Amino acid sequence: MSALAAVRAAAGLDAYLELLELRLERAVGSHPGVVGRIGTETLSAGGKRLRPVLVFLATPPELREDERPLAAGTAVELVHMATLVHDDLLDAAALRRGRPTVWAAHGPDAARAAGDYLFARAFAELAATGDARAVSLLAGAALSLARGEALQRRQARRPDTTVEEYLERCSLKTGKLFEAACLLGGGRDGLGAFGLALGIAFQIADDILDCAGTPGATGKPRGLDLRDGTPTLPLILAAREDRTIARALAGEDVPDALARVAATGALFEAREVALGYARAARAALDGEYERDTLEPLTRVVVDREA
Ligand code: IPE
Ligand code: IPE
Ligand code: MG
Ligand code: MG
Repeated sequence: MSALAAVRAAAGLDAYLELLELRLERAVGSHPGVVGRIGTETLSAGGKRLRPVLVFLATPPELREDERPLAAGTAVELVHMATLVHDDLLDAAALRRGRPTVWAAHGPDAARAAGDYLFARAFAELAATGDARAVSLLAGAALSLARGEALQRRQARRPDTTVEEYLERCSLKTGKLFEAACLLGGGRDGLGAFGLALGIAFQIADDILDCAGTPGATGKPRGLDLRDGTPTLPLILAAREDRTIARALAGEDVPDALARVAATGALFEAREVALGYARAARAALDGEYERDTLEPLTRVVVDREA
């Protein structure tokens, strides 16, 4: 069985995802008006729903049919959606999940407002459970996301950004939400370390896909990070080998820059680093249910096309 098939085969996951979709629709459609409509549109574009899957799989099996993983999965996915709406505005990205992004379709003001609305709906969902620890966990992750995006702005057009600085950014903008998803599952606290490492591996893989992915599969155009001067791991490593790439990252127009990146060893090296984080995530697992259901995810996040 492939790793993806193993993840999908987890007992109860399909039913959970169906309920999740209804819950997301209800949360987003609860208020009439422009931002509600934009939220519903964003939701209907789909997405992997990976963070709710993580909440579900990190929940001890006997608690998976409870209300808690459903509320937490909904809240985590809404925070994720909110950050994507804002991120696409910051990155000036035109396409997401194969469709025009919110700011491209509705303008920057509507995108800011729609993102804020999604954040608000996320916290309302968790607050309704009365679980203050859960609200606090998600609030911490949302703050990290904002700090990660701010760090990315400071690192923009700086090809000599260090790998450590890059990893700090990945941890903030992606790892912390994965960590929160795992902790919201209500299993062992040690699962937080699993989520953090998994999230960093996932972001490195995303940054490789930005250089060498298939837009038909990712739903996003290639080369956006290079165009925006975002120093991702593959680009930092490629810039060390080929100084023309460093100049492209700094803002110079280099038409064949992506082909130059592919000609270096950077994509391979970056994948090795991602695999290292996937291994670290595996090492944080303990016990039968965790190994059965969470371990395949550590392979899926790196070996993916979408
Ligand atoms: C995209 O996340 C943003 C990153 C953290 C790289 P996903 O790849 O999980 O996005 P969707 O929800 O499946 O579209
Ligand atoms: C991830 O970074 C975005 C957030 C975690 C908010 P990217 O900018 O690389 O994500 P994509 O490529 O736009 O999905
Ligand atoms: Mg982006
Ligand atoms: Mg990206």
